[in-house]
Amino acid sequence: MLLLCIETSCDETAAAVVKDGRTVLSSIVSSQIAVHAEYGGVVPEIASRKHLEAILPVIDQALVEAAVSIEDIEGVAVTRGPGLIGALLVGVSAAKGIATAAGIPLVGVNHIESHLLAIQLDHYVEFPYLALVVSGGHTHLYEVTGIGRYRTLGQTIDDAAGEAFDKVAKLVNIPYPGGAVIDLLALDGDPKAINFPRPLLYDKTLNVSFSGLKTSVMTYLKRNPSASDPANLPDLCASFQAAVCDLLVAKSAEALLRTGMSRLVISGGVACNSGLRSSMKRMSAANGIDLHFPSPLLCADNAAMIAVPGDFYLQRGFSSADFDAVPSWPLDSINFPSDRG
Ligand code: KG4
Ligand code: ZN
Repeated sequence: MLLLCIETSCDETAAAVVKDGRTVLSSIVSSQIAVHAEYGGVVPEIASRKHLEAILPVIDQALVEAAVSIEDIEGVAVTRGPGLIGALLVGVSAAKGIATAAGIPLVGVNHIESHLLAIQLDHYVEFPYLALVVSGGHTHLYEVTGIGRYRTLGQTIDDAAGEAFDKVAKLVNIPYPGGAVIDLLALDGDPKAINFPRPLLYDKTLNVSFSGLKTSVMTYLKRNPSASDPANLPDLCASFQAAVCDLLVAKSAEALLRTGMSRLVISGGVACNSGLRSSMKRMSAANGIDLHFPSPLLCADNAAMIAVPGDFYLQRGFSSADFDAVPSWPLDSINFPSDRG
C-alpha cells in the first residue's frame, strides 16, 4: 500500500510517502526551530500558523521526491495526537481533505506509537521489546508486545528528558533547542566534575524525574557563576548529561529485569544523544540486551515513522475520517483492535 503520511504535532511540518509500511520513498521535514528559538521554546500559536504555511508545499515536495502523484496514493495516515492541538489540527485537516477528495482511506495515528515503531523502518525488530521514548515532550518506558499492544511501565513525573536538556541549555544561554549543543559540549567535559543528583534513582517505581536536576544546575550556577564560562561549560554539560543518562539507563535496566525482555529500542529526539547511546550500549552489552536506536532522522519528529502503524491499521481495514485531533492520548488506551473498529 502506498501511503501519504502527515505529521504536525509540534514544531516540524513533515510529510512522507512510504510503501507497505517499510520502504521510505520520501521524507520531508520542514523545521520551525529558527522561528521559535528567539522565544526560547515553541509558541503554540506561531507553530499553528507556520504549519498552515508549510503543509501543502511539504506534501507536494514529498510527492515530487517520491516521484508519485496524488492519484497513486492509496491511503493517508496522520498524527492525531498527542501534541499541540492547534498544530495537530492543521495536519489532521489536510489529511481529511486529501483523503476525502481522493476517495482513499484515512487513519489517525498516535505520535508516541510512531516513535516507538520508527525502528522498523531501519530494520525489523522482533516483538516484544522495551521501548524508551525520550523527546522534548515525553520520557516513557513501554512494554511493546506488537503493533497496537503497549503497556506503560514508567514515565517522567515532571519534565521530559529533552525539556530538561533545553531548560539547562537556556540557563547557560544556548539557544533553543539546546539538547544537541549540550551533547557536543559534553564530549569535551568531565562527567564526574560536578556531582548532580539522580532523582528517583533508588525509588521502587520505573518513573524518572528531571525538574529537581534542572533546579540543581540552576543553584550550582548561582553559587558558581564561572561554571558557565566557555572553559568550564563542557564540564557542566557533561556532568548534567551523565545524571540524565544514569537515570535513564538504570530505569531501563530495571524494566528489562522486571519484565524479562531482552530487546531495547530507544527513540525520540534525545535518542540522538551520544552519551545516552554509549551508556545504553555499555549496559546492554553487560546484560546481554539486544539494543536498537533508529537512525538520527528517524529518532526526531518525522512523518515516515507514521507509516509503520498507519499501514498496519489500514491493511486491517481500520480507517475512519471521523476523528478529531487530541492533545493527550495515552498509549495504554490503544489496545488493538478493540478501539479501532
Ligand atoms: O522527538 P523530537 O524531535 O520532538 C519531540 O519533542 O517530539 O525531540 C526534540 C528534543 C528536544 O528537546 C531536543 O533538545 C532533544 O530532543 N535533542 C537532544 C539531542 N538532539 C535532540 N537532546 C540531547 N542530545 C541530543 N543530541
Ligand atoms: Zn516526537
